[in-house]
Amino acid sequence: MASTPKHIVCIVGTRPEGIKMAPLIKALQREPWARVTVLATAQHRGLLDQVLALFGIVPDVDLDIMRPGQALPELTARLITGLDEKFGELDPHVILAQGDTTTVMAAAMVAFYRRVPFGHVEAGLRTHDLGNPFPEEMNRLLAGHLSRWHFVPTERGRQNLLREGIDGAAIHVTGNTVVDALLEVAATGRTLDLPLDPSKRLVLLTAHRRENFGEPLREVCRAVLELVERHPDIEVLYPVHPNPNVLAVARELLGGRERIHLCEPLDYAPFVEVQKRAYLILTDSGGVQEEAPALGKPVLVMRNETERPEAVDEGVVRLVGTDRERIVAEASRLLDDADAYRQMARGVSPYGDGKASARIVGVLREALAS
Ligand code: UD1
Ligand code: UDP
Repeated sequence: MASTPKHIVCIVGTRPEGIKMAPLIKALQREPWARVTVLATAQHRGLLDQVLALFGIVPDVDLDIMRPGQALPELTARLITGLDEKFGELDPHVILAQGDTTTVMAAAMVAFYRRVPFGHVEAGLRTHDLGNPFPEEMNRLLAGHLSRWHFVPTERGRQNLLREGIDGAAIHVTGNTVVDALLEVAATGRTLDLPLDPSKRLVLLTAHRRENFGEPLREVCRAVLELVERHPDIEVLYPVHPNPNVLAVARELLGGRERIHLCEPLDYAPFVEVQKRAYLILTDSGGVQEEAPALGKPVLVMRNETERPEAVDEGVVRLVGTDRERIVAEASRLLDDADAYRQMARGVSPYGDGKASARIVGVLREALAS
């Protein structure tokens, strides 16, 4: 007699969780031993909806958590009570979540309170500095210590967890599911509907980290102004994150400037296309640090620490902080020096080979499908 399928609740909260969970959700949905419920906390509303629509995923449950300008304590409180109520109703065998957002931390905590095994996708990333990134490093630490399965992208993640006393048998090196998503989307080339000048080199900019709010973000914007002034053959595209702390500064310092295009966040497919089209990428994003090297694009990371040092070690990503002069100097070096550029545009992919979801499903199948 066939056994009852195991009920797996997959959590998605923000844009990057949607992108990185999508290939795994779709792979699990194909498994006969698994019954999948997709639970959207909608910590992000518009940004999450965009990516779920692209991958054809319709949430079974939607907590609709997002409020404009949400503060961390109120966000956390709403997530904990909302998730607890739903986990009570759904009564899952397993809960899976990805990354380091407040959604993930809350899901891991509520899974722990309810004694439901929790699987952490993209586990083991660390900067070892609770202030950078804030609050994500704390979210990862908490989720890491509450997980039954740790799906780490690279060997480095495994070493980080072993040093924290995590049982090696619970750690699985799978690669990052972002590469699964990227390869699927990058394979379908698209035309871009953006006001870009083909005769200019494109510098793509994204910035949204909480620890960069205020003066660091203003420094980043001033660096962009200087770069555009110094290099008449470049233009900058900045899809601005809707967080009001970002939007206000971007509009004030970069709005209405020649060769600087501010736009709404792009859907994932056009954003991948824009990364392919870019000459150089400036970012403080986690996901972009993983995708751009796979697409052969040099990345300057405007942060003081990164939990993704593999691409830095490979020499295809550089950590430049948020000091205006340093950003201008590092970007100008890549714009002016073809050899320096070539060394960084080598197209290495330390974070995965596109088969991470299959590996994660394999681990879960072995543990649950009997
Ligand atoms: C969150 C995550 C961060 C992740 C980022 C990905 C936390 C604490 N932060 O940061 O780790 O890198 O998502 O983008 O978990 N907003 C909208 N529409 C949206 C999304 C956001 O208007 O679709 C605005 C709202 O005003 C919202 C604000 O942005 O209140 C902040 O959203 P929040 O999820 O708290 O923080 P992010 O900065 O997006
Ligand atoms: N992204 C997108 N549209 C944009 C900017 C980013 O689809 O306008 C994608 C990007 O390709 C990456 C993910 O969003 O996969 C990264 O999300 P974000 O930078 O918001 O968060 P982080 O990765 O820093 O947590």
